Amino acid sequence: MKDQRNLQLTRRDVLLSAVTVALPVVAGAAQAETIRSVTDVRKLPLTLRVNGKDRKLELDPRTTLLDSLREHLHLSGTKKGCDHGQCGACTVLVNGVRINSCLSLAVMHDGDSITTIEGLGTPDNLHPMQAAFIKHDGYQCGYCTPGQICSAVAVLNEIKAGIPSHMTGDLTASPETTNVEMRERMSGNICRCGAYSNIAEAMAEVARSPA
Ligand code: FES
Ligand code: FES
Repeated sequence: MKDQRNLQLTRRDVLLSAVTVALPVVAGAAQAETIRSVTDVRKLPLTLRVNGKDRKLELDPRTTLLDSLREHLHLSGTKKGCDHGQCGACTVLVNGVRINSCLSLAVMHDGDSITTIEGLGTPDNLHPMQAAFIKHDGYQCGYCTPGQICSAVAVLNEIKAGIPSHMTGDLTASPETTNVEMRERMSGNICRCGAYSNIAEAMAEVARSPA
């Protein structure tokens, strides 16, 4: 009689066993669903005009502009430093304006004109900023350099266009290419090697040269 009582299942026992058996099944199904949703993403067609050439791509809409350049177009000049918008190594020009390409999705740039370090100049015909970086030793390891050069080009264009910065004293006057003005505008481009003074000298030389 006592043994029979021990064998009797209570409603609570049944529910507990059902939950115990069902949980791994439910978790497994959810995991499978997650894996499917991560991999089964509809790719989107887009065209980026990169360094003067139209490049057609079909990308997972979550692909950053940086990864589309490096991984899909094999333009590895643009560097991935932090991948969080904090170092500037991934700086490229989009329609002439500098952006951190790690913070922007490629699909947002369908039809946009992108200039990377490969498009600024060639080894035989360097952009003046590239030549000035070489002349003034504006780099050591060179990892930040493509981003620094793209940013430096954009900075001089910003100053020329009269766009003020936090360091511009008189907002009614045109900003000038002073050392402090250029350093402030370049503050988003980090150089672990500390080539900042030489970069400033390179920029000053280009700023002084006739357009
Ligand atoms: Fe984009 Fe650092 S890699 S800001
Ligand atoms: Fe090495 Fe700038 S040259 S990080």
